[in-house]
Amino acid sequence: MSENPSLKRYNLLAQLFHWTVVVLMIGLFVTDTLREGAPKDTPERLAFLNLHMSFGILLFVVVIGRILWARISDQPAPVPGARWTQVSAKLTHLLLNIATLVVPVFGYLRAAAKPRPIEFFGTQVPNFIGESPEIAHYMHNFFHGEPMAMFFYVVIGLHVVAALWHQWYKRDGALSRMLPWG
Ligand code: HEM
Ligand code: HEM
Repeated sequence: MSENPSLKRYNLLAQLFHWTVVVLMIGLFVTDTLREGAPKDTPERLAFLNLHMSFGILLFVVVIGRILWARISDQPAPVPGARWTQVSAKLTHLLLNIATLVVPVFGYLRAAAKPRPIEFFGTQVPNFIGESPEIAHYMHNFFHGEPMAMFFYVVIGLHVVAALWHQWYKRDGALSRMLPWG
């Protein structure tokens, strides 16, 4: 990735990647909530889980594409501001990129550790690990369970508040850099 100070905004593909990730993340939390609300052992519950897994696998592919694109294309320089705001923005973006890459892998492990098929929009995905109560325990309780969901709520919450603060309080156009019409 090279920073190009003359760029005023993210390029169109970087914007498309960013907002596709946002839509898929919303889809992941919505399908998980709908699954939890559906009665146990029903086709609806399974359908929401299959959709959740499909969105998660798609997210993984999109995030790889996004990271590769960020490495080969030019990026705008950081929004001007105090050093601590620039460092925290960098750290938040790094955490979000890492989390959107590893949490789908933990989701795969959570699914694969139980005797159930893993699907990607109707196509069965191979199970490389097989049944494992130990992996299921760690995924359910830590890496793909409530602590992971909390982590996302906090980091995404901070990220969104920072974006809105820049846009409407500092009025430096930070959000516009990520919008095609900004
Ligand atoms: C960044 C991507 C993902 C996010 C944010 C996400 C989010 C979540 C959340 C919040 C839960 C509920 C956790 C709990 O309270 O116990 C969950 C459960 C689950 N997720 Fe994901 N997920 C993602 C990707 C995936 C992927 C790629 C798969 C599988 C290929 C997957 C499979 C599962 C399974 C099997 C469950 C448990 C369902 C059950 O209890 O029956 N997830 N996920
Ligand atoms: C839902 C999950 C989200 C994730 C995982 C995410 C992730 C990221 C990442 C990794 C970056 C760094 C730039 C890049 O790699 O392209 C970024 C930048 C940005 N995001 Fe998000 N984001 C999310 C949601 C949002 C939302 C809802 C908003 C708006 C309210 C937003 C506004 C921005 C802005 C304005 C930038 C550019 C910051 C700058 O100019 O330095 N993001 N986002």
